[in-house]
Amino acid sequence: MKRLEGKNAVITGAASGVGRAASLLFAREGAAVACVDVDAEMGAETAAMIRAEGGDAVFIEADLADPASIEDMARACMAWRGVIHVLFNNAGIAERAAFEDIALEDWNRQIAVNLTAPFLCSQKLLPALKAAGGAAIVHHGSIDGVLGNPTLVAYSASKGGLQPLTHVMGFWLARHGIRVNCINSGALRESKQGIPVRLNRDNRAGQPMSDAQRRATPMDRPGFVEEAADVALYLASDESSYVNGSVITLDGGRTGLTPGTF
Ligand SMILES: NC(=O)c1ccc[n+]([C@@H]2O[C@H](COP(=O)([O-])OP(=O)(O)OC[C@H]3O[C@@H](n4cnc5c(N)ncnc54)[C@H](O)[C@@H]3O)[C@@H](O)[C@H]2O)c1
Repeated sequence: MKRLEGKNAVITGAASGVGRAASLLFAREGAAVACVDVDAEMGAETAAMIRAEGGDAVFIEADLADPASIEDMARACMAWRGVIHVLFNNAGIAERAAFEDIALEDWNRQIAVNLTAPFLCSQKLLPALKAAGGAAIVHHGSIDGVLGNPTLVAYSASKGGLQPLTHVMGFWLARHGIRVNCINSGALRESKQGIPVRLNRDNRAGQPMSDAQRRATPMDRPGFVEEAADVALYLASDESSYVNGSVITLDGGRTGLTPGTF
């Protein structure tokens, strides 16, 4: 039995990295997938890859920094399927800058894509999520949102907001049979299937995990995007039926250790 058989899933940031890995995985597990992204070329390619494997997918173009575009996206998703069982709020951006140099525009865009969009996508898709009679929302947070990464100031602040958002959405939406959880990932730098992990947001495209990150990670390796997709699948499926308002850390053991003690 496939783990998402008969379910409809919306995945944001589906053009690349974790979003593409999750789109392929969810489809292989029986879901019909709406692949949402601002990148029309690669987003459509993800949907085409799923269809080439015999799966069911559509691409829906949206700029999640723009509330009007989110409304259009939600309308398009609900025209595609009146019932949505899974929403994976995965799209994210990050810009490196010293605190003094952060332009308000860059701050606002990161807050919009990383924090406001998960809120707004969830709210606008609520009618279809409620109609499922049992649905799951998964946010994609970061370990940078727990303590704070000095090189990614706005990113850290935006991802930090996702954690309490997860808790309070878990409160408000439980009454509708909707569970809400979050994955806090560490450095995901590779793909087992050759999926691009662009990381264009921090200008390190294609670069491996840094030495500092590796030293701080007990497992001594970066994560694969497929490993994040696996956690998202667990949180999306009925196997996590009593997991709600929770945050799962996916970082090879990095944030479990007191800094400076090893
Ligand atoms: N890769 C990592 O090391 C890492 C670590 C922790 C958390 N994360 C989180 O994982 C998620 C996926 O990141 P990834 O590593 O796969 O990166 P990625 O850059 O490969 O993929 C992100 C996707 O989001 C899309 N996107 C960006 N802005 C958008 C917008 N305005 N509207 C619609 N789509 C937009 C991009 O086009 C891209 O397809 C992000 O939320 C990221 O913060 C990643």
